[in-house]
Amino acid sequence: MDPVLAGDLADLPAALEAVRVEATRILADLDHRPVAGTPRAEVAPLPHAGVGLRGALAEFIRRWEPGFSASAGPRYLGFVTGGATPAALAGDWLTGVLDQNVAAGGESAAPDLERETVAWLRELLGLGEAHSGAFVTGATMSNVTGLAIAREWLGEVAGVSVARQGVAALGPVPVLSATPHSSVYKALSMLGIGRDAVRLVPTLPDREAVDVSRLAAELASLEGRPAVVVANAGTVNTVDFDDLRAVAELRARYPFWLHVDAAFGAFAALSPEHAHLVAGLAEADSVCVDLHKWLNVPYDAAVQFTRRRDLQVRVFSSSSAYLGAPGAEPDFVHLTPESSRRLRALAAWFTLAAYGREGHREIVERDTALARRLGERLAASGAVRLLAPVRLNVVCCTLAEDPTERRVAAVVREVARSGAAFVTPTVYSGQHALRVAFSNWRTTEPDADRVAAAIERACSTVS
Ligand SMILES: Cc1ncc(COP(=O)(O)O)c(C=O)c1O
Repeated sequence: MDPVLAGDLADLPAALEAVRVEATRILADLDHRPVAGTPRAEVAPLPHAGVGLRGALAEFIRRWEPGFSASAGPRYLGFVTGGATPAALAGDWLTGVLDQNVAAGGESAAPDLERETVAWLRELLGLGEAHSGAFVTGATMSNVTGLAIAREWLGEVAGVSVARQGVAALGPVPVLSATPHSSVYKALSMLGIGRDAVRLVPTLPDREAVDVSRLAAELASLEGRPAVVVANAGTVNTVDFDDLRAVAELRARYPFWLHVDAAFGAFAALSPEHAHLVAGLAEADSVCVDLHKWLNVPYDAAVQFTRRRDLQVRVFSSSSAYLGAPGAEPDFVHLTPESSRRLRALAAWFTLAAYGREGHREIVERDTALARRLGERLAASGAVRLLAPVRLNVVCCTLAEDPTERRVAAVVREVARSGAAFVTPTVYSGQHALRVAFSNWRTTEPDADRVAAAIERACSTVS
């Protein structure tokens, strides 16, 4: 064994303790460090002889850690970014410690833990037993997986197997959606259906939610040709929700696969005040739910749910003499794009076991209350104008005066430079805007007020 490696093995308990000490310091500092990090350009040469775990730790702390953002902290409100609850973090650490490959079962309980976690999530989000699920890396891969199953369903209806014959056997596929996330286009590109397959359906006035009567008209115009409908439960700009029940009811009249991108919106189900937004989610044929957003597990984790596991197996089976064939309870190697895969369910299992439905309901309700508080305060300040009501956890607003791309970008930069918060720019309804997204378990009222003050200050200082 390499002597440095052998040294680390002998020193492992003490070396891991040193890592724990640094981790604790970093976590204690999360509230205080600048929220936005500093990118770094130079690349050091590959070490010839290594410096061992403690040496690598020291070098990481010296060269890299100071430039990292406080994205796990309470005022990183860009994109839709969750943190990691204490229990989720512990689960993530143990995932590496145990280093299970959850591709196949038989010699470990790890795949059964993933199944238990999927069942807990299904119940948490109000999905029924008809949905089976599997962990993937993020909402993008969840959309890819769901739409791959949709593609196989279209094949089944047409009397071909896309998994065997390829997507050319299917011909063009109509994909109808009002406000799809960019990852849906990426998924269609990857699946050979193509980005141009998307037919944008008009939204309700001043909304991002689909106009169901226009969707019905689009479906009618297909004259019986099967389609895919991507419904959206939580759009990134204004967190708008399609009327899932009304969309699902259209299946009585038109043949289509209903995929719902509920990446973070699915968590509305935890809040009695907001659960109506996802009524009908259980009707979907496939559902995308991200976990590194509002479940607050570390990157990277999401779940893909479907009612048609038989079609999922057709797409993703990876049978071979040494891996076996999919049985009645297929191994995960036959269910997702990955073959070898980490036990990313463990972090989710830990946080659900530690805090349960109540703990996660409280996080969702606190984040939504904070978004509302920030929206009200910003609107009252006169510095910004809300572009949509705060429906759930995102404030979408623009500068009250002269909201050009340059000025919005300057506000985003100034907020980041202040170190107090991080928010991201967007374009909504043709207007340059700011998105402030609450999905971290650490965020409190003083944080929201600090963010408001940072935005107000930035608005007043940019020229
Ligand atoms: C609605 C929606 N779908 C899909 C995604 C893609 O998620 P990920 O980056 O985890 O792949 C996001 C990310 O913000 C999202 O908000």
